[in-house]
Amino acid sequence: MFMHNNQREQQHLGIVRSLLMHMFGRPKGILGRLGGLILAHTKRDFIQWVIHLLDAQPDEKVLEVGFGPGVGIEILAAATSTGYIAGVDYSKEMVEQARARDAKAIKAGLVQLQYGSVEALPFADDTFDKALAINSMQVWSDAMVGLREMRRVMKVGGKIALGFTPQSGQSSTGLTEMLTTAGFTEAHLVETDQGFCVLATKCSANTG
Ligand SMILES: C[S@@+](CC[C@H](N)C(=O)[O-])C[C@H]1O[C@@H](n2cnc3c(N)ncnc32)[C@H](O)[C@@H]1O
Repeated sequence: MFMHNNQREQQHLGIVRSLLMHMFGRPKGILGRLGGLILAHTKRDFIQWVIHLLDAQPDEKVLEVGFGPGVGIEILAAATSTGYIAGVDYSKEMVEQARARDAKAIKAGLVQLQYGSVEALPFADDTFDKALAINSMQVWSDAMVGLREMRRVMKVGGKIALGFTPQSGQSSTGLTEMLTTAGFTEAHLVETDQGFCVLATKCSANTG
């Protein structure tokens, strides 16, 4: 049996996609650990930029979904004094790496990192002043469910930031509309040479 070139190309693409998913999308096993190390050394400036846009204050409660190796959590924790930083990630390997990176802030009670999914966040309604996710939403199994769940745990007046670098494969088209559909207002896009970020506000109380 001969495979057509097209079929072979599709098969190769499938393998590459699966490898990338294991390394970066939902890091798992040795590849996942390696992916975490690469992310930690390549994305710091971009993460810093998104956090700057989010404008988290030292006394605020902040949630990061999909924190990966924990660089964003590290930056947020360094700027917090009386606040609280929580993180949820769907990769046990990343929870482990981030807990090691952020051990001091965890010990000080400023940071709490958990394994879990954006689709069922382990927090009460109206908990957080700010929420963010960087290069993560593109791999959630249902982005709209995730966004609504992030909104649920945010306080009225809270701000969300979703950052993406070109490597994420996420298009900026339609993102502000998605945030509006999820119940956020004032959704707007900010771009830099390293990627883009959509920001929005939760302006009204949860319903239902
Ligand atoms: C490309 S990594 C980005 C990590 C980090 N934010 C960064 O920029 O370095 C994507 C992260 O999202 C997490 N993730 C994927 N699906 C998720 C879900 N449903 N809920 C929470 N985290 C998820 C992955 O485990 C992974 O750590």
